[in-house]
Amino acid sequence: MKYQIVRNTKYDYTGQSYASLYPNLHKYPATMLPQIGVDVLKEFNAEKGRLLDPYCGSGSSFASGLEYGLTEMYGFDINPLAVLISKSRFTKIDLNKLKQAYRDFRSNLFEFLKDEDNIETLSRPYITNIEYWFSKDVINALTIIKYFIDEIKNTNIKNFFLIPFSETVRECSYTRNNEFKLFRMKQDDLLNFNPDAVSFYLKKWNDIFSLYSNFYFPKLKDDLKVDIQYSNFQTRDEYFDIVLTSPPYGDSRTTVAYGQFSALSNEWLGIDYARKIDGMLMGGIKSTQNISNGIIGDYISQIDKIDKKRAQDVSAFYNDLENSIVKTANSVRKGGKSIYIVGNRTVKNVQLPTDQFIAEKFEKNNFRHLITYKRALSNKAMPSRNSPTNEAGKTVNTMLFEYIVVCEKI
Ligand SMILES: C[S@@+](CC[C@H](N)C(=O)[O-])C[C@H]1O[C@@H](n2cnc3c(N)ncnc32)[C@H](O)[C@@H]1O
Repeated sequence: MKYQIVRNTKYDYTGQSYASLYPNLHKYPATMLPQIGVDVLKEFNAEKGRLLDPYCGSGSSFASGLEYGLTEMYGFDINPLAVLISKSRFTKIDLNKLKQAYRDFRSNLFEFLKDEDNIETLSRPYITNIEYWFSKDVINALTIIKYFIDEIKNTNIKNFFLIPFSETVRECSYTRNNEFKLFRMKQDDLLNFNPDAVSFYLKKWNDIFSLYSNFYFPKLKDDLKVDIQYSNFQTRDEYFDIVLTSPPYGDSRTTVAYGQFSALSNEWLGIDYARKIDGMLMGGIKSTQNISNGIIGDYISQIDKIDKKRAQDVSAFYNDLENSIVKTANSVRKGGKSIYIVGNRTVKNVQLPTDQFIAEKFEKNNFRHLITYKRALSNKAMPSRNSPTNEAGKTVNTMLFEYIVVCEKI
């Protein structure tokens, strides 16, 4: 391996869970353990300046930054649900105002529910195959809840109310909840599934409120700035001191389906391209050419011998990753650090050295590789096995380790 990898058990955090530091307010796939970020920032004595996460997902890097003492952080993601979750976690809202908004919301909701005919006055949202995914009762309940959330004028309070709403959408739908992809429950399970979405929502609201008020609110000081944009990251010359991120491991269709996971929530949130998001994420646009140079070139040619189309798909992903690293590298000031936490996925039995690729591309863009730590993966909320050969029943370990790639701008 060209760029040094050191197995470091300190970063395994055996037995620790995500929840111990900053419990998530909403489920999200492939979340990063905030402890990793905190300890890497400490170990490399990162400057207490501006942090960037170009693929921020549900915002774990901001939890790390906050714990480390950073007060200015910037995030980007093109999944609207990810942006909503991140914003809600790191926006300070007066707890009394939230409680008052909840009391008003609840009494309006109950008043409305007294007359069964009221529902006829509300227009239904457009959801693809709505009756395949939701029972009639759940559709009605969600429509009413969403109507009263939309009445809330304050954007931060409204966003907060949308978090339990999105969880209610997923958990009261006919999707199998332990999968990230959209699969419907088995017929037998459907018959016994009759959730009361209004009660579910109110309970979720209270659970999330108690997590927010206990774990987040006390840490969200007035001088904290967490700016999260719903877009691709664009270069900002030498503006940031630290990059801390866990980028996707591969295209969304064949690795972690962020778009599918979020599709129903995004549709209920009014995003009309909700079903197209996987195609918009890194590696989503197909390529007709293979990468033949650099560290990844040989691996892609091995895949090409087995499956030409897959080799092109993999090339599309690495092209996107490289373009984004160029923008990110330009945006870091001299002496600043970049910390990427990635897994090396396997395609057609070829394990792709994404950690080496990242180090190589940073070095090409005025960085020096400091070290890559290898950690055992035991906590990440994602499958560690799949069937890359697409043969039923045949599985290989795709990712039992994760790599923490640390580089410095020179
Ligand atoms: C591994 S997840 C990040 C998870 C995050 N660290 C957390 O703990 O929630 C990768 C994220 O990259 C986002 N993403 C993929 N392609 C992107 C792109 N081109 N621009 C911005 N975000 C992108 C996905 O939507 C996903 O949320």
